[in-house]
Amino acid sequence: MSNQIVRPARNLQGSVTLPGDKSISHRYAMLAGLAEGTTRLSNFSTGADPHSSLACMEALGATVRKDGKTIEITGVAGAFRKPEHPLDCGNSGSTMRMLAGLIAPHPHTFTLIGDESLTQRPMERIRKPLSKMGAEIHLTGGDGAVGGHAPMTIVGGPLQAIDFDTPIPSAQVKTAVLFAGLQAQGTTSLSESVRTRDHSEHALKAFGATLERQGDKLSIPGGQKLSAIEATVPGDLSSAAFFLCAALLFPESNLILDSIGMNPTRAALLDVITALGGKIKVLNVEEHHGELIGTIQVNTVPGGLKGIAISGALSAQIIDELPVIAAIAPYTREGITIRDAKELRVKESDRIALVAKNLKAMGAEFTEHEDGLSIPGNQQLHGAQIDSGSDHRIAMAFSIAALRATGDTEIQGAEAAAISFPEFFPYLDSLAQR
Ligand code: S3P
Repeated sequence: MSNQIVRPARNLQGSVTLPGDKSISHRYAMLAGLAEGTTRLSNFSTGADPHSSLACMEALGATVRKDGKTIEITGVAGAFRKPEHPLDCGNSGSTMRMLAGLIAPHPHTFTLIGDESLTQRPMERIRKPLSKMGAEIHLTGGDGAVGGHAPMTIVGGPLQAIDFDTPIPSAQVKTAVLFAGLQAQGTTSLSESVRTRDHSEHALKAFGATLERQGDKLSIPGGQKLSAIEATVPGDLSSAAFFLCAALLFPESNLILDSIGMNPTRAALLDVITALGGKIKVLNVEEHHGELIGTIQVNTVPGGLKGIAISGALSAQIIDELPVIAAIAPYTREGITIRDAKELRVKESDRIALVAKNLKAMGAEFTEHEDGLSIPGNQQLHGAQIDSGSDHRIAMAFSIAALRATGDTEIQGAEAAAISFPEFFPYLDSLAQR
């Protein structure tokens, strides 16, 4: 385990280009693996998770060539081969859940495994719709609080279309159903109560598939074939979130982040930043394969941050950004309340419990709820030893809290940042003025 010392900063200044979006990289990797032809992806995520998706594609018969952030994938033209070994999804819930839908229509038996964290995460949510479509899926366990989990065995074969209402807002579950529906018999439809990130919808269309949205209902005809594309992956807004929140902590920050994904279903963080009192400017917006890409400039205003109450659909839309929002909450004037975010308990770690543990270590007052946290403002934190729990977003969130603390902070298990953002600590060092 590697530890990282984070020293307090005076403010954040500068400009960086962030690595490719993790969510979009997974989807492009998987659809390229299934498609016919060679897909060329620029600015592919440098995070370990999307590389787990690439490794699974190779195990399923696709050819993957890597040249830095440029990846070429020659797909299997609709027919995955039987892998010789279990498909290792590493730490990546996205890989395991979306891949399950992608491979379930193929006539082989697949075993999906993951690391210690992934092995504890709930998989019943994808077993239900995929088995309704006709796949035989066996999970491990099932009696505990999270229900069945990996290792997972899928006995694949021809699937039938279904009508499905997603009980929990989850883009991963939606994607598993869409990927299976794409290859099923008949038209699959799916309703979501909260509009989750729609990268799969854009990616499917980019690779040549037809699908339709009417209101909150999506329909995808089965039996479709995909063709290779050329694409550039937008910078990852969820990685940018750490620096955007860090900039807010100091009255004279000025930060410019280039070529960031601005998909409206991902960008609610920018509204939260504005509500807190940050000044956001979005420049040079372009569209690429349905995804908006722009430059974000954030400035802060004298007088410090206001507070905000986050709940309902908003909690689901900024679920990945909640740890860093919680980590800066003590430094706001009015505090931050986060509710309806119980999903945080089944992410790469129990993120509510770990945020609580680390806020406490830094001397903060707060109340922990089953579905969130209430964190009063006007608190000065002190440097401490932070337990990342091997969770990338916890390691990075508390590195940001450390910038305004008194004294140095030691992030234990800092290497976890590499799951989504291996460049995080060097970038933080270059932006933080001391
Ligand atoms: C993701 C969806 C979200 C998010 C995860 C990435 C995706 O998970 O937390 O980091 O790429 O679809 P859920 O689908 O479980 O909400």
